Amino acid sequence: MDATIRPATTADAARLAELRYEFRAPRAPNTESRDEFIKRCTEWMRRRLASDAWRCWVAVRDDSLFGHVWLHLIEKIPNPVAETEWHGYVTNMYVQENHRGGVGGALMDAVLAWCRQREIDYVILWPTERSRTLYRRKGFAVTDAIMAQSFQDPPGASAR
Ligand SMILES: CC(C)(COP(=O)(O)OP(=O)(O)OC[C@H]1O[C@@H](n2cnc3c(N)ncnc32)[C@H](O)[C@@H]1OP(=O)(O)O)[C@@H](O)C(=O)NCCC(=O)NCCS
Repeated sequence: MDATIRPATTADAARLAELRYEFRAPRAPNTESRDEFIKRCTEWMRRRLASDAWRCWVAVRDDSLFGHVWLHLIEKIPNPVAETEWHGYVTNMYVQENHRGGVGGALMDAVLAWCRQREIDYVILWPTERSRTLYRRKGFAVTDAIMAQSFQDPPGASAR
């Protein structure tokens, strides 16, 4: 795994939007054109990358950005007892096919190393069936601590 993993900056937003399109557009009939989506998503990502509520790590080699993972920080209400005050939601984990092999794991290591240094309680994600082995290796487990209700897909139908 000779890729470099680094935090994303706002300058990465356009490339990250292209990769988001590549990852998600093939899944279902599209509701907007590629250009419209990339413009909208670039703006969305630029704002989120400048905020405190989101973090993103990217995989690069020879100035080419080919993988990413995002972390959204979910704030908890302050506690008058010793309890961490954030949850983390991991999403948009993607590595271009010709670069796969250790890169996804390295991106997840970066997320978890960051979380370990912060006041994070749970880190949650929606796995696809195929990616469960990767997340298990990184310490994730199915837990009965959380109750969830879906207003859309059947539970577990697709990764978010
Ligand atoms: C998931 C993904 C980022 C892993 O990248 P990678 O560089 O191959 O990662 P690693 O080599 O560190 O880990 C390999 C693990 O990735 C997972 N994986 C492999 N191919 C996959 C695929 N097509 N889709 C989803 N997960 C996959 C498996 O858990 C695999 O472990 P296993 O072979 O022991 O079962 C990459 O396969 C990908 O981008 N897939 C498509 C997008 C996706 O499904 N993202 C996850 C949504 S929850």
